[in-house]
Amino acid sequence: MKMGNSSFVAIALLMSVVVLCNGGKTSSYVRKLIQNPVDMPLDSDAFAIPPGYNAPQQVHITQGDHVGQAMIISWVTVDEPGSNEVIYWSNSSLQNFTAEGEVFTYTYYNYTSGFIHHTNITNLEFNTTYFYVVGIGNTTRQFWFITPPEVGINVPYTFGIIGDLGQTFDSNTTLTHYQNSKGNTLLYVGDLSYADNYPNHDNVRWDTWGRFIERSAAYQPWIWTAGNHEIDFDPQIGETQPFKPFSNRYHTPYVASQSTEPYYYSIKRGPAHIIVLASYSAYGTSSLQYKWLTSELPKVDRTKTSWLIVLMHAPWYNSYYSHYMEGEPMRVVFESLFVKYKGDVVFAGHVHAYERPERVSNDKYNITNGICTPVKDISAPVYITNGDGGNQEGLSINMTQPQPSYSAYREASFGHGTLEIKNRTHAHYSWNRNQDGYAVEADKLWLFNRYWNPRDDSTIHIP
Ligand SMILES: *[C@@H]1O[C@H](CO)[C@@H](O)[C@H](O)[C@H]1NC(C)=O
Ligand SMILES: *[C@@H]1O[C@H](CO)[C@@H](O)[C@H](O)[C@H]1NC(C)=O
Ligand SMILES: *[C@@H]1O[C@H](CO)[C@@H](O)[C@H](O)[C@H]1NC(C)=O
Ligand SMILES: *[C@@H]1O[C@H](CO)[C@@H](O)[C@H](O)[C@H]1NC(C)=O
Ligand SMILES: *[C@@H]1O[C@H](CO)[C@@H](O)[C@H](O)[C@H]1NC(C)=O
Ligand SMILES: *[C@@H]1O[C@H](CO)[C@@H](O)[C@H](O)[C@H]1NC(C)=O
Ligand SMILES: *[C@@H]1O[C@H](CO)[C@@H](O)[C@H](O)[C@H]1NC(C)=O
Ligand SMILES: *[C@@H]1O[C@H](CO)[C@@H](O)[C@H](O)[C@H]1NC(C)=O
Ligand SMILES: *[C@@H]1O[C@H](CO)[C@@H](O)[C@H](O)[C@H]1NC(C)=O
Ligand SMILES: *[C@@H]1O[C@H](CO)[C@@H](O)[C@H](O)[C@H]1NC(C)=O
Ligand SMILES: [Fe+2]
Repeated sequence: MKMGNSSFVAIALLMSVVVLCNGGKTSSYVRKLIQNPVDMPLDSDAFAIPPGYNAPQQVHITQGDHVGQAMIISWVTVDEPGSNEVIYWSNSSLQNFTAEGEVFTYTYYNYTSGFIHHTNITNLEFNTTYFYVVGIGNTTRQFWFITPPEVGINVPYTFGIIGDLGQTFDSNTTLTHYQNSKGNTLLYVGDLSYADNYPNHDNVRWDTWGRFIERSAAYQPWIWTAGNHEIDFDPQIGETQPFKPFSNRYHTPYVASQSTEPYYYSIKRGPAHIIVLASYSAYGTSSLQYKWLTSELPKVDRTKTSWLIVLMHAPWYNSYYSHYMEGEPMRVVFESLFVKYKGDVVFAGHVHAYERPERVSNDKYNITNGICTPVKDISAPVYITNGDGGNQEGLSINMTQPQPSYSAYREASFGHGTLEIKNRTHAHYSWNRNQDGYAVEADKLWLFNRYWNPRDDSTIHIP
């Protein structure tokens, strides 16, 4: 059937208009062809192996202590274990320091990892550029990072947010755009390599992912959240230890926040107290995670860290069909605590799309009272889904209709988020769609701090 010119124009006009449903905005942005993205080939430049005998590869760093004066430096060598030492010095110091860490390998089905090194470097000064060298004795490689400013309520600091990245050509675009952003530290909301989509969870794809992210993760800390693609539990091939590749490769500073598991912990960084929760560890009221969170929240001191940020993998407020209502069991257990302790913002991933609900809560429901609709609650955090990193499973394009009233903005495109904390009262959040490059912020708003500036900052009307 041939379409007349006029009806073509009418459709085009319709598509360019923002669709207002019951809730907020469903972006009408029309992406390029919707198809499943493909992983970059093994010999891609994004996975290049650094030259030289036993050259360190997959270099990445994450915060090592509770306040930002330690950094865990991690890397892999393949020819021999090599040295565990990291040599480091600050921009202004006249002296070099040395720290020694640990090295080990792990096996997964018929795969044996390279020699994985983790070294915690400590006693760092705040707000200082450090250089570091790994690969001592063999091929050395040098990198640098900047420590955060000392914890304080008014220090500006910018976090990036990426989730569900994977290792496709689209993932590569997301990472490049993030590198061109102002992000000082990346909040990673889970689902890293997607190696588990390969036969026998081919852990070679964990190695390619490590080499892929090095160009950012060796220079600024990535703060890790565990997703379902990190579980790698597969009894059929004899792999019964959950999170085996992830926990060997990506360490977290959980001991420094008195946590008993690497998957939930907290850090302070500049103006923020960041709590990482584990969607795939027990969270019921008798769980260790519940016990940890209920003792952690009273320790959050908003007169020292003004912003309270929470990371988790599976979102609680999600209006896509993908993983619809999956976050409910955890929401029921924890939501009233988030409201009580005035969480500012909760970032999640899992759903391969972008969504920003307004400040809502749904913690009045008690099974019999029927009060089960999320309602506007200016004491509640804003929930943001950034599961749009670009992995091979493709976008979650199906949305529930009509758009629920709590949902302010949703769009199935790849991209990343940026949270620019300005001071104790204001932070600017933006979502950057890949197709626009990094110049255009597709969704943006000012977030007012719930402790210091608890005014209504909603962008749509919610009953
Ligand atoms: C790193 O060192 C700091 C300072 O000693 C310590 O608080 C922290 O727990 C260490 N982190 C790890 C992961 O060992
Ligand atoms: C080292 O510090 C000086 C001043 O403190 C600064 O001008 C310079 O840019 C810094 N260099 C690096 C590489 O960070
Ligand atoms: C520190 O180590 C680096 C790299 O090995 C070296 O270039 C530099 O000269 C050393 N500085 C001092 C003060 O020893
Ligand atoms: C692991 O086993 C698979 C088939 O089961 C095979 O294709 C692959 O080459 C093996 N890998 C190694 C490192 O032996
Ligand atoms: C590589 O470095 C380690 C540790 O410094 C050293 O023991 C080993 O001899 C080196 N190997 C070669 C071939 O230089
Ligand atoms: C961090 O250091 C820079 C100079 O290198 C300075 O301009 C800035 O004010 C410092 N920030 C904090 C929060 O101390
Ligand atoms: C990935 O992105 C980098 C940086 O933009 C680029 O240099 C490289 O060619 C890209 N690789 C692929 C396979 O797209
Ligand atoms: C549920 O809440 C209603 C009022 O909102 C109250 O009347 C009822 O007793 C509650 N039921 C339970 C089981 O707590
Ligand atoms: C989207 O929903 C429609 C209707 O329920 C279904 O036919 C289709 O398979 C779904 N598409 C995806 C990608 O899930
Ligand atoms: C905080 O930052 C916002 C946005 O830049 C600014 O409008 C406001 O005046 C600042 N507040 C304080 C107390 O500095
Ligand atoms: Fe997921």
